[in-house]
Amino acid sequence: MKDFITGLPKAELHLHIEGSLEPELMFALAARNGVTIPFASVDAVRAAYAFANLQDFLDIYYAGASVLVEQVDFHDLAMAYFERAAADGVVHAEIMFDPQTHTDRGIAFGTVIEGLLSAMAEAEARFGMTSALIMSFLRHLSEEAAFETLVMAQPWLDRIAAVGLDSSELGHPPAKFARVFAAARATGLRLTAHAGEEGPPEYVTEALDVLGVDRIDHGNRALEDEALVARLAASGMTLTVCPLSNLKLCVVQDLADHPLGRMLAAGLRATVNSDDPAYFGGYVADNYRAVAKALGLSRGDIVQLARNSFTGSFLPEAAVARHLAAIDAYVAVA
Ligand code: ADE
Ligand code: ZN
Repeated sequence: MKDFITGLPKAELHLHIEGSLEPELMFALAARNGVTIPFASVDAVRAAYAFANLQDFLDIYYAGASVLVEQVDFHDLAMAYFERAAADGVVHAEIMFDPQTHTDRGIAFGTVIEGLLSAMAEAEARFGMTSALIMSFLRHLSEEAAFETLVMAQPWLDRIAAVGLDSSELGHPPAKFARVFAAARATGLRLTAHAGEEGPPEYVTEALDVLGVDRIDHGNRALEDEALVARLAASGMTLTVCPLSNLKLCVVQDLADHPLGRMLAAGLRATVNSDDPAYFGGYVADNYRAVAKALGLSRGDIVQLARNSFTGSFLPEAAVARHLAAIDAYVAVA
């Protein structure tokens, strides 16, 4: 029997596809592509997943991505994620990919995106799951490099829903990417940015005012600024929150202290997501279950989080309405 959370229709809005690379697939792809990785076994990889902060994780995450070489590797990676997500009740996924992690080591942009797109089509055919792509710029690199990525993406712009901003937050404020985000907006792309994960509330304000983002990835530290919380609530801004990620990266010391409960109480449109599930110990339903247990969330809170995942998505209004009706139908009988 499916539990209530697993069966609840939900969207996942904050998922780095490279962060869904499980150690078993990492080893299989390393062997298939003749790539050397600095681990002796799957167990040794998992043992290395003890992070004190975001940068500790990113160093291992970028190293792991080196096994992704051929188009089929990106397809297999995404398919493995879609299978797990479908089992968790995800009916729509907006997945981030980091082209620069691959193009900087000589992999063609087309190799990456065509592999992802073929998996997205297969996920729709096999599971009825829709998905969208968010092309994320690495913020530790220059704005010029982000512009080069936007140029490379030109032939596929109609297949990309949004641009994002990820990687090392501290010292790389959103304003560094003001012009490239404006250019992306001008081409019709939606905008999102990681802000307030490790960085201060001012980075959240900057993402809103300077980048003009449609949603905020994480946003935890926005809670340190009362006026900002009021603004986020009044504008219905979506926050894509990642509880198990926050715990693994020491953004929170204990899930019982996680800000999600305070976000909901403040009327913020918070959602629950897995971020990098292969590294942080759980997929999206695990995140719902863990944070619900730690914070004592009610069934009503959990349903609200699932509703927020659709109202905060980049789906057209009619699709959002259809998914909300499916939630209502599920709740009525579950
Ligand atoms: N890239 C992958 N996961 C990330 C995270 N949680 N924060 C910033 N960049 C990331
Ligand atoms: Zn993230």
